[in-house]
Amino acid sequence: MAERILLGVAWPYANGSLHIGQLVGAYLPADIFARYHRTAGNDVLMVSGSDVHGTPITVRAEQEGRSPEEVASQYHEEFLECWEKMGISFDCYTSTGTENHARVTQDIFLKLLETGDIFKQTMELPYCTVEGRFLLDRYVEGTCPHCGDDGARGDQCDSCGRVLDPFDLKNPKCKFDLSTPEPRESEHFFLRLSAYSDALKAWLNDDKEHWRKSVRNFALGLTEQGLLDRSITRDMTWGVAIPVEGFETKRIYVWFEAVIGYLSAAIEWAEKEGTPERWREWWQDPEAKSYYFIGKDNIWFHALIWPAQLMGYGKATGETYNLPYDVPANQFLTIKGSKASTSKRIAVWVPDFLERYDPDTLRYYLTTIMPETADADFTWAGLVQRNNDELVATWGNLVNRVLTFTYKNFDKSVPEPGDLSDADRALISRVEEALEEAGREIAACNFRAGLEAGMSAAREANRYVEDNAPWKLLKEDRERCATVLYTAIAAINGLKTALYPFLPFTCQKLHGYLGNEGPVQAGGWRLVMPSAGRPLAETEPLFKKLDPDIVEEEEAKLGV
Ligand code: MF3
Ligand code: ZN
Repeated sequence: MAERILLGVAWPYANGSLHIGQLVGAYLPADIFARYHRTAGNDVLMVSGSDVHGTPITVRAEQEGRSPEEVASQYHEEFLECWEKMGISFDCYTSTGTENHARVTQDIFLKLLETGDIFKQTMELPYCTVEGRFLLDRYVEGTCPHCGDDGARGDQCDSCGRVLDPFDLKNPKCKFDLSTPEPRESEHFFLRLSAYSDALKAWLNDDKEHWRKSVRNFALGLTEQGLLDRSITRDMTWGVAIPVEGFETKRIYVWFEAVIGYLSAAIEWAEKEGTPERWREWWQDPEAKSYYFIGKDNIWFHALIWPAQLMGYGKATGETYNLPYDVPANQFLTIKGSKASTSKRIAVWVPDFLERYDPDTLRYYLTTIMPETADADFTWAGLVQRNNDELVATWGNLVNRVLTFTYKNFDKSVPEPGDLSDADRALISRVEEALEEAGREIAACNFRAGLEAGMSAAREANRYVEDNAPWKLLKEDRERCATVLYTAIAAINGLKTALYPFLPFTCQKLHGYLGNEGPVQAGGWRLVMPSAGRPLAETEPLFKKLDPDIVEEEEAKLGV
């Protein structure tokens, strides 16, 4: 039975180019997962979009003297191009700026308002007396009350990951003029998170063995302390409007609405497909599973706040909305030992990378270092080495020498094999096992292990070709030569599928070299024995060797 799988992928702020930390944290693992499940015959719906609201956008716009719309639409376009070129295969990539999204958000807001899960309250907000205005949370900076870090902002401490209110900070200061903000009253809406503490805790304790320990413990830890009600509107005019009279100068807080994008995007997708009710199959069928691909800084919102919103909305409407099945958040990526930083120029930007190198090279290297359980480090030397030693020398070489040799000596087609020997059959079973193992690991969100399953079988296939030396057999025993090549082609065909989620561009090319039409995923997650006599296409090397000199060149561009 086909499974139904919803993938929600973090919505990137449309305020700057994508960097490889975002790619490795969320988009790449999501895409690997989606491609695997599609190939295995499951019904995948992978959604995300540009997060166009909030201060990240307005600050950038202000700095550049442009409107928030302009900034957001520029980066939205750039993101779309990156997905295409990186092979990140969304079923729907939209933005939080759509009418549909505002409608869904406002509906949830009003429903929760009716049940009292959202309530109005006067609150004291930081008011900058120098500038004469209320300060948004992140414009207040100070010391974190939990971990003591000096660089905490009024919305969040990046050091310990806790969500904060501005007056939680010790020594709060206005970011612009360093004055001490004074508390002044303003009316806002709050989410009654306190009422969901116990339900969230019970949910996090129930059948979550498949979650990454770090993610689950982090979320559980927060529920232990008891969750506090949180304000979900802000004094600003850029964002989703509050559907209540008298709140024209305020907007719904960016995080409250951005997570709703997972639902609104599914609705948008269904609408565009001409099947407007179909989103329900992923959201309301209890058998459907939802996975959220995010970085660890977003756990709060995906493992606590969003589930609380969904519980509340379900209660208010009498319908069920599936809670996250898994939130496989990744740790961080450092660049040659340093924390990525735009201001210090320590970053590798995806559009820059793609101007010079191939997407599968980056996908491959990033998967081998994916920060699944601990922070990981990107180095150009590592990328060059993995590309040259593994993609070019192992997998690429296997494909290239088997296919070009066959093409040249066996009439440009798959040779007719004689009886398969034990060694031949052993290789084929080995690849079948690798496929199964890779599938199991990918489905469990162990992407590094999934890739390694495929690559270790590729190494064995290489050894098999080495040991059986078809180039020697050609003159001595043409039938055995044909059998060896046939076996190697069968193994390559299986490995093409096992590696496809990681290396979609080159595996699709290879699929064509093997004489197939259509997409790899149509063949299913299995080893298909090649048909003897099928014409092969002329092969070109799948990967390019990288000159080790680029390491120095690229590092010189980094501020490390
Ligand atoms: N825009 C946020 C960030 O870049 C992520 C939002 S994820 C969402 O950190 F689910 F809330 F949309
Ligand atoms: Zn802290």
